[in-house]
Amino acid sequence: MEIRKVPDADGEVMVYKFWDGVHFPGKVPGDAKTHIEYVLGKTYKQGDVLLATFPKTGTHWTFEILYMLLTGKAEYCPKSPVSLDYSTQEEQENLGSPRILGTHFYPKHVPRDFLEKRGKAIYVYRNPKDTAVSYYSFMKRLNIPGMTYNGKWDAFIDTYMQGTVPYNSWCEHVSAWVEFKKENPDYPILLISYEDMKKDLRRSVQLISDHLGTGHDSALLDAIASKCEFKEMFKEKTENISETDKKISLDGSNPFYRKGDVGDWKNWFTVAQNERFDMTMKKEVDKIDLPVEYTLT
Ligand code: A3P
Repeated sequence: MEIRKVPDADGEVMVYKFWDGVHFPGKVPGDAKTHIEYVLGKTYKQGDVLLATFPKTGTHWTFEILYMLLTGKAEYCPKSPVSLDYSTQEEQENLGSPRILGTHFYPKHVPRDFLEKRGKAIYVYRNPKDTAVSYYSFMKRLNIPGMTYNGKWDAFIDTYMQGTVPYNSWCEHVSAWVEFKKENPDYPILLISYEDMKKDLRRSVQLISDHLGTGHDSALLDAIASKCEFKEMFKEKTENISETDKKISLDGSNPFYRKGDVGDWKNWFTVAQNERFDMTMKKEVDKIDLPVEYTLT
């Protein structure tokens, strides 16, 4: 493992744990390598569900939907999600079944036994422009040593396009999971977009429920969709913020909830930034065999 200090265009430094080709955030325990080797060796338990995402693409949102479907109640999870990436071995061992294993890892870093036993997986993706805005806003709100970023949006967007943010580039991450699906066409993994979830949350809850095989009645699915609308979740997670989330926030607000919109990037990208993005990164995005929506009509 190597500690990498990556300056943005203005010289503002981001610090990573770099291992096996990936820039990991400082939150990954220890030297990252030992932690990931532990994760790779984890044993599958019946009913485990893997929730894989690139950061800022709706992880907490989808986690709540999964939690409600698996518990059979339209009630929020009182605790912060346990993450394969950041939770200690003790926290991971103490997680009760059925377990939701949240991760931003690439397929090559998720537990081998989980994949061999064909555990159910969900990969949520979000258009890369809104993801960039959410990423920047999140990093500016953080109070985690080694992860706090004081840079400007204009410098961040270039760093993001170059893929020197935690977990590398959006394209590399999404491509890795799309390739995983292509190479394992029968693997039970559901690829779903943030934009589709925004368009019709009730339908998305049904899709996820069908994928998990939870077989709930329509009244429960209605209630879950309604509880997981942004306004409802924002209120709950702001009023009842967990101690874990409060600790990592600079101002005590919940950094995982902000606007919850599709197309907010238009309020951030200047014409020049948008052109730069479309000339470089968007071309790579368009090569990925997956529909990506930047606005909702
Ligand atoms: P914004 O910063 O654009 O508002 P993650 O959980 O992967 O960190 O993703 C965080 C993003 O998901 C934030 O996006 C957050 O507001 C949004 N989000 C959280 N709950 C949501 C919900 N119920 N509906 C829509 N977006 C939600």
